Amino acid sequence: MWTDGPLCYGGDYNPEQWPAQVWSEDVALMRQAGVNLVTVGVFAWSRLEPAPGRYTFDWLDQVLDLLHGGGVRVALATPTASPPPWFSLAHPGALPVTADGIRLHHGSRDTYCAATPAYRDAALRITTALADRYAHHPALAGWHVHNEYGTTCHCEHTARAFRRWLTTRHGDLAALNDAWVTSFWSQHYSDWAQISTPRATQYLPNPGHLLDFRRFWSDTLLAAYTEQRDLLRAANPALTITTNYVLGDWVPVDHARWATEVDLVAVDHYPSAVDGGAEEQTALAADLARGWARHAAHRRPGSPPAGGAAAWLLMESAPNQIHTAGRMHTKEPGRMLRHSLAHVARGSHGAMFFQWRAPVGGAERFHSALVPHAGPDSRVFRETVALGAALRQLSEVRGSVEAAVALVVDAASGWALRHPGLPSALPDYHDELAAAHRALWRSGYACDTLTPGDPVDGYRLLVLPALYLIDDDAAEWLRGYVDGGGHLLVTYLSGVADEHARVRLGGYPGALRELLGAYAEEFHPLDAADQVRLDDGGTGRIWAETLRLTGADTVVSYTGGVLDAMPAVTRHRVGAGTAWYVSTRLDDTSYRRLLDTAARAAGVTTVCPDAPEGVEAVRRRDGAASWLFLLNHTDHEQRVPASGVDLLTATPIERAVTLAPGGVAVLREHKG
Ligand code: GLA
Repeated sequence: MWTDGPLCYGGDYNPEQWPAQVWSEDVALMRQAGVNLVTVGVFAWSRLEPAPGRYTFDWLDQVLDLLHGGGVRVALATPTASPPPWFSLAHPGALPVTADGIRLHHGSRDTYCAATPAYRDAALRITTALADRYAHHPALAGWHVHNEYGTTCHCEHTARAFRRWLTTRHGDLAALNDAWVTSFWSQHYSDWAQISTPRATQYLPNPGHLLDFRRFWSDTLLAAYTEQRDLLRAANPALTITTNYVLGDWVPVDHARWATEVDLVAVDHYPSAVDGGAEEQTALAADLARGWARHAAHRRPGSPPAGGAAAWLLMESAPNQIHTAGRMHTKEPGRMLRHSLAHVARGSHGAMFFQWRAPVGGAERFHSALVPHAGPDSRVFRETVALGAALRQLSEVRGSVEAAVALVVDAASGWALRHPGLPSALPDYHDELAAAHRALWRSGYACDTLTPGDPVDGYRLLVLPALYLIDDDAAEWLRGYVDGGGHLLVTYLSGVADEHARVRLGGYPGALRELLGAYAEEFHPLDAADQVRLDDGGTGRIWAETLRLTGADTVVSYTGGVLDAMPAVTRHRVGAGTAWYVSTRLDDTSYRRLLDTAARAAGVTTVCPDAPEGVEAVRRRDGAASWLFLLNHTDHEQRVPASGVDLLTATPIERAVTLAPGGVAVLREHKG
């Protein structure tokens, strides 16, 4: 496994974009920076197979030999995310079709349909050729399959595959008609052939149809991945095989479900916020990645038990610019290191980047790189060298993050909350997750992420932000958790619908109303600019509800307006545990206060209670050994009570560590 050795450091290396004389300089600079792993050839299909079945591997032979000679290991990519022009010309039927029925043209990347046999066959042919030639090359650490499975399609091949998938999922048309509630608007299907992908239609589409299409497409992309993986595995079972995930909907798959199929969860992360939000987004991304890795570990036979460390890797991040709408924000000095260490603190076995060297042309010519356009005599490359040194100093760090709080996350709920026809278009699933995570992060709580059904031993508080779809098993899982003494905090839009996106009757959230001792009789979605006032001085936005109590106590009430004096936040003591319900999107300060109250009530403490505001503290532990990461995200010096040895400076720390503005420390803590 890549994760058995030193922390991984490197990124996407595209030698095909450069003349051969640059390659030797690349390897020399990689050595200078301490780079030890690069992804090679990720978009090199047209250079590897310039015409059907004609392979030109000579340049790749040279590159791999050079890298091997320089001690840099290679994650060899299969280049299938970007078929060459000859492929699209020969197989116009493999070009993707939008929901509007428009067939896209060659000219970018990712322009193929993953359900089309011609594409899948061509992808397997180039993968086979690469495996035959390189599976035992000494430079190879493993395979980076494809790149960010991020496409969708509505062509006839896809429609046929969708129908096949539906027959397996539903068995017969009666079950499908029931699941999709096709009695509504005369949509009853009497023949499988009548079903297509959810193409653009006159008015609101069917939610069950939309949801099943997303599930089907995630499975289709997964099948495209696993068939390459199986072929590569057969060529050399010793090599690590993975593909890179991305958060949000860029890669439209259920990452948790995919986690059992990759040897290593590998995640790309590019924050979109430029202020402190970038650090909050980084922390959430890393906590999600660790959750997927743990998720995989729980389910894979012979893997570490719950609570054990599950390896994952930050596969791509930006060395410099943060891309915001319409412009790029140059990262301040030290921020690349802080972002990288925030990932390592949360379990990433290293820090990888897109990309090694900035290209002279192409669509992403201004994307940042470890070797920028200015060349190695630059701040970014000096920080690249410094980061390499820092990662070497952290080679002893191992173990997992200790967290007693977990967010429960479900990809399908995110998909369903994008459906048209909901009471409001404002709630955004990722935003709901981020708000809950941000509140915990700002208070300094370590946070894991789980999917419904995961083991909950050791967690004192579970938070369910907008978990819209809850099936009977998940409802039972939550009931068992609270009965057993767990604390649960549920927000609005959770448990409203079942796994087919059918509304559960009897008051919202139908799946959880007994557990919560409260239910909503009516929703009151708010305009984007509106707020509701709360009697503890806080505010709510986006959403409000008319709640009726059936055993819960009121913790916070609405004040003013139609909901005046009615409950907004409730608490229900059930069995040995407690279930909280939050019926509006609290402002950040109130959300933080409420989660702090719930966490304390659950007996959870923060990672480093004396850390000042703006200093992020994350602890990794392995048995009796522990490492405390302290990241100063403020622009002034900070002192944090702590003791141990700072691995980055090899300095013993007796009582407190002083962090420079934007500075970091990683302490090997004294045992016991
Ligand atoms: C993704 C891709 C890379 C590159 C970066 C740019 O993560 O995998 O090829 O396009 O985005 O941000």
